[in-house]
Amino acid sequence: MIIVVMGVAGSGKTTIGTMLASALGCRYLEGDSLHPAANVAAMARGIPLTDADRAPWLAAIREQMVSAVEDGRDLVVGCSALKQVYRDTLSTGLPAVFIYLRGSPELIRSRLLEREDHFFEADMLDSQLDDLEEPRDALVVDVSPPPAVIVDLILKQLEARMDIREFTDIDELSERAAETAATVITAAVELRGRCALMLSGGSTPRGMHEILGSRFRDAVPWPSVHVFWSDERYVPHDDPRSNYRMARETLLDHVPCPASNIHPMPTSFDDPAEAARAHEATIREFFGDASPRFDLAVLGMGADGHTASLFPDAAELEERERWVLSVTADAEPPTRLTLTLPLLTSSDVTWFLVTGSEKAAPMARVLAGDASLPATLVQRGAGRVVWWLDREAAAQVDSMSASSSAKGGDAAD
Ligand code: 6PG
Repeated sequence: MIIVVMGVAGSGKTTIGTMLASALGCRYLEGDSLHPAANVAAMARGIPLTDADRAPWLAAIREQMVSAVEDGRDLVVGCSALKQVYRDTLSTGLPAVFIYLRGSPELIRSRLLEREDHFFEADMLDSQLDDLEEPRDALVVDVSPPPAVIVDLILKQLEARMDIREFTDIDELSERAAETAATVITAAVELRGRCALMLSGGSTPRGMHEILGSRFRDAVPWPSVHVFWSDERYVPHDDPRSNYRMARETLLDHVPCPASNIHPMPTSFDDPAEAARAHEATIREFFGDASPRFDLAVLGMGADGHTASLFPDAAELEERERWVLSVTADAEPPTRLTLTLPLLTSSDVTWFLVTGSEKAAPMARVLAGDASLPATLVQRGAGRVVWWLDREAAAQVDSMSASSSAKGGDAAD
């Protein structure tokens, strides 16, 4: 995971970032150390940096972030990242979490004036505050408490983090999800030369698929996209219940994704367990010696909290070696193939698309950390998880969040 500790100069990025990296057992990268000399000189003379000045600096930081992701290392980065466009430049296609150190200008100015050797002059603070666009989807922490308290709060928030995005209805959700998926898929191809995309079944993803297959037919480098599934019903691929058939009808028959890039779970073996072993061999061949790492997984959640075809209390939830299993579930149809938790938590970015009033109760249980739900186990084990909810599915989550911020007292104000 990549953590970017952001905020204006004097907000404590170096202190907090260093302590956080130490607590997480990973490296801290001081973003300011990557400023070109001309930027350092300009700031020392009190000349505010422009977007053009910051471009090479952001590129140098992103290079370090990409390298950490490729090496499978966590990394904490200290970077002001004042504008959304800077944050997008740094993080697109990467499992990055932003932590915004927020403080009053008075407090921050007083801290800057206490510093001697920093090349940044306190009177530059105003230009940084002018540039600052407070982030939409960052963890926000107030910088008033002592550093140790701040770091402890961050660690707690990281552990409980649920990135929940609420939309009016499934149509708006599908539009936004398709737009974002197109960006993530394209960024993955730019970064790695290919995108490993994991789709799921059910009905919720249909809208997003249809928009990707129409509005984004030409925008996404589909010839470099490889498609896998989180699970499959053990029925022929032309059966109306087939997840593969659903994806073909709504997306894959409309985009130039080569057949060799489409990896459906096989359902023609007499023995589903043999089909599972065959598909596991396909996935292992695709990733070769590298650890499996999908660029984007799009999952759903059932009203009982199942995801893929991992159901509550299922023995398959304990599997840590196999990547694909055949299961018999109390669902229609009962026989299925499913990825196991090691694979379902192996994506840089994992999405849950959840809509409808019957999902409100399980959503609240996931938010409360109910580990009896398979969806909670994926939330906990995966890197960056984003929940795409319509208003109905978010109903109980909203009330829980409101009550928890009320409990938070001043901190939430
Ligand atoms: C499947 C899916 C399954 C699905 C959930 C939610 O094969 O059914 O992979 O995990 O995502 O059951 O389904 P809906 O989107 O239809 O609610």
